Amino acid sequence: MKNIALIGVGYVGLVSGACFADLGNKVTAVDINEQRIDNLNQGRMPIFEPGLEELVRRNVNAGRLYFTTSYEEALNDADFVFIAVGTPSDVDGQADLRYVRMAAESIADVMNHYLILVNKSTVPVGTGDWVAEIIHSRRPDAPDFDVVSCPEFLREGSAIADFMNPDRVILGSINRDAAEKVAQLHLPLRTTLMLTDLRTAEMVKYASNAFLAAKISFINEIANICEALGADVKEVAYGMGLDKRIGPYFLDAGLGWGGSCFPKDVQALASMAEVESRHPHLLHAVMDINRDQRHSPLRKVEAFLGRDLRDRKIGILGLAFKPNTDDMRDAPSIDIIRNLQRKGARVRAYDPVAMQRAAKLLNGVEMLDSAYAVAEGADALILVTEWNEFKNLDLARIKRSMAHPVLIDGRNVWDPLKAQEFGFKYAGIGRGYEGRGSGHPLDLAEGL
Ligand code: NAD
Ligand code: UGA
Repeated sequence: MKNIALIGVGYVGLVSGACFADLGNKVTAVDINEQRIDNLNQGRMPIFEPGLEELVRRNVNAGRLYFTTSYEEALNDADFVFIAVGTPSDVDGQADLRYVRMAAESIADVMNHYLILVNKSTVPVGTGDWVAEIIHSRRPDAPDFDVVSCPEFLREGSAIADFMNPDRVILGSINRDAAEKVAQLHLPLRTTLMLTDLRTAEMVKYASNAFLAAKISFINEIANICEALGADVKEVAYGMGLDKRIGPYFLDAGLGWGGSCFPKDVQALASMAEVESRHPHLLHAVMDINRDQRHSPLRKVEAFLGRDLRDRKIGILGLAFKPNTDDMRDAPSIDIIRNLQRKGARVRAYDPVAMQRAAKLLNGVEMLDSAYAVAEGADALILVTEWNEFKNLDLARIKRSMAHPVLIDGRNVWDPLKAQEFGFKYAGIGRGYEGRGSGHPLDLAEGL
């Protein structure tokens, strides 16, 4: 058992802290947000993440997980200090490191023995060295310490499973001994541990997120070409993904990537390159395609209803940037709704968990308590987030209650032919043939 101090109890901090506690460590999580800590101490989660509440409760009850606002208390007997504070974009698109700086200064102020500082936040290449400089300059007599970069690759909505079953753990440090100690902590996860230098580890994180975003932008570009040429992107992606070199993941065409990470990280990587006078053409194309993709629902609604959308009732199914989370940071729904409102449409929406957060960001949207309520009297329905409950909606009931049966399937969850059979004017993303293919492989090896 190791003692871990964890700084920042957001998506990454709270999940990693609860998981490290579940692996048998003692974790003290510290946050500057007093209300967050008070709530956690009363068993209330600050975020929606499947399985998190139960995991936190179990480990708090077992005396392995504590929450505090005191750095002193958290660092007093710590072996490792994990930094998991936010690194949002600043106005120029670079990573805003103010929270990392604050955390480093607070660590410097209270540390009283050797510590291994492990950075889990996504930070520009060179930040690990910068953190060490901050501590040295704030506290020249600080006890010895090492900095290890250990970027986090979990996804919201499946964060606990991702943390517990990672594809790899990347550890970067100039001190191999320190990196090996952090590696020990991760041994129960039984995964590939890659040890490298600090800057390379920091870059692995940005390069990975940028590659995944590029894969999605690529398939969205192909989707737009499919629409023009009469091919079905779902089947194209399936066919592409059978090639092991390409793989089937992150090839779902849709309304583009959003969330708290891809948008800011792709932009931050481009900014890092530009500061060094490099020209990240591909990264810019990846971002441009993503921006355009958010206009796709409006274009499709206009194709069915005409360009005058004044007082048209448009229903939105799903607001969160992806299913199984209430995170609204850079959610495609925000741009899609604002585009519709600019055209004079009246927007109503439903999301199983994100409506409260969404209401703070979106003016003039009527939030309703079910998909069926949103469909009632609507001129068009746009599926933005592919929550499971939308996949099994009673489409006949939906069709009957709408004023005009226009169905825009922003995540390709419905069968286009079925939707058309129900009488919908249906448009998915990149479904030129609107799903006339079989979608199923013929397995010749099985003797056909
Ligand atoms: P978040 O905004 O959900 O949480 C950050 C927390 O840090 C907040 O609770 C905030 O109050 C706290 N905080 C800020 N300054 C602090 C300080 N000085 N001391 C103590 N607490 C402080 O952020 P997040 O989504 O968990 O992201 C954290 C980092 O992890 C980011 O760099 C992000 O890019 C990266 N990341 C996020 C995800 C994800 O799915 N959200 C996945 C991988 C990596
Ligand atoms: C992403 C990465 O997947 C994680 O590995 C990483 O740790 C995290 O960013 C981060 O650095 O914070 P996350 O943003 O939680 O995780 O969610 P994803 O599942 O990656 O989805 C991101 C966006 O891409 C969503 O808007 C989703 O709808 C979209 N997406 C995803 C697609 O449009 N198509 C796909 O095939 C996959």
